[in-house]
Amino acid sequence: MRLKSFYILFLFLPLCEACDNSSNTNQLEARIDNLQQKLDHSYKPGLGEFMSEIQVHHAKLWFAGKNENWKLADFEIHEIIESLDGIQQYASAREESKKVVMLTPAIDSVNKAIEKKDTALFRSSFVLLTNTCNNCHTAVNYEFNMVKIPDTPPLSNQVFKTFK
Ligand code: HEC
Repeated sequence: MRLKSFYILFLFLPLCEACDNSSNTNQLEARIDNLQQKLDHSYKPGLGEFMSEIQVHHAKLWFAGKNENWKLADFEIHEIIESLDGIQQYASAREESKKVVMLTPAIDSVNKAIEKKDTALFRSSFVLLTNTCNNCHTAVNYEFNMVKIPDTPPLSNQVFKTFK
């Protein structure tokens, strides 16, 4: 009798192991589905939100460069670069996002002007940057979003001048 139950146990052991494995797999699959759902519904900034951020930094960059505040100009151009990286990371589902690389030559030129503290080069690079923004807007049928060199600082609570 004892021997019989031992055999029965022996027979079922590997089977039950297989059972356990498949229930583990089911549980894991359910967790993955659940996480995927959470990921799909998690908040991701859209292209328009990145553009609004870029708009502010674009304006601040102008007043920083105009005032030869090179440290601030350097900060602002890097904020633009960060937003562009964000577009590629979070808004890659938008076909237009592939075109952000067209800003690279203008950004390089602005960076060079800041590095050399060259106001004339800064002005021409900023014009190139602004024209490239509009070229992309035209290329992706958003030409009605036209940007320009700003007349007044975007916010009144920030100092753009340097006090040497
Ligand atoms: C990839 C091409 C591309 C480039 C390069 C680009 N934009 Fe845009 N921009 C867009 C698209 C697409 C939209 C519309 C986004 C949306 O659907 O909300 C937009 C929208 C905007 C808006 C309107 C935002 C709003 O919600 O009111 C502004 C302002 C803007 N861009 C500024 C800029 C500036 C400044 C630059 C250059 C530094 C720039 N963009 C470069 C594609 C581009």
